[in-house]
Amino acid sequence: MKDQGTNRPYTLSLVAVVGPGLELGANNQLLWHISEDLRHFKALTMGRTVIMGRKTYESLGKPLPGRNNVVLSRSGRSLEEVLSQVKDQAEVFVIGGAQIYRQTIDLADKLYLTHVRAPLPDGGVDVFFPPVDPRQWKEVMRKDFPHGVKFPFPFSFVTYERIRYR
Ligand SMILES: NC(=O)c1ccc[n+]([C@@H]2O[C@H](COP(=O)([O-])OP(=O)(O)OC[C@H]3O[C@@H](n4cnc5c(N)ncnc54)[C@H](OP(=O)(O)O)[C@@H]3O)[C@@H](O)[C@H]2O)c1
Repeated sequence: MKDQGTNRPYTLSLVAVVGPGLELGANNQLLWHISEDLRHFKALTMGRTVIMGRKTYESLGKPLPGRNNVVLSRSGRSLEEVLSQVKDQAEVFVIGGAQIYRQTIDLADKLYLTHVRAPLPDGGVDVFFPPVDPRQWKEVMRKDFPHGVKFPFPFSFVTYERIRYR
């Protein structure tokens, strides 16, 4: 889908798994591992460009297979350069972490959030997804799970699209 509201020739989408207070991670790790969500993430991003911050890349430990991995570092290309140089892609995915979500949410067309309703780790959380303003984002798809095959808490896949006021 070509984006309607910007000159970008592709849809810019953020993908994240978040807790009830938009919690993202702790100690450079994810908070939960939900196999259904990993499959969902893979299905969305396979064959596409994925953009991530250097810390998220270090936490993954290696490039995501089958995807064009772009890792942002202040010693490399700027975010603006990366976004303007994407070619021949219908949809590009920002996959974290907090710093990169914060800098791209106002540019994004779509959000794919997995909302998890599970206890948070005892040690606390140190990174959060930016606020999702309901005046700017409308829910267009939702799939609720009472629990996963190996995950005992409820979670939902929710897709949001930016509301374009004309
Ligand atoms: N729940 C989820 O879905 C999800 C997804 C991804 C990550 N996470 C979690 O998020 C945490 C990591 O997030 P984070 O905020 O600490 O780090 P991050 O966003 O992954 O990476 C930050 C780094 O990106 C680079 N950077 C930031 N802004 C840039 C810009 N404008 N241009 C170029 N490079 C730029 C800098 O690298 P240099 O320092 O090299 O300059 C910066 O230190 C981890 O806990 C991870 O598990 C959660």
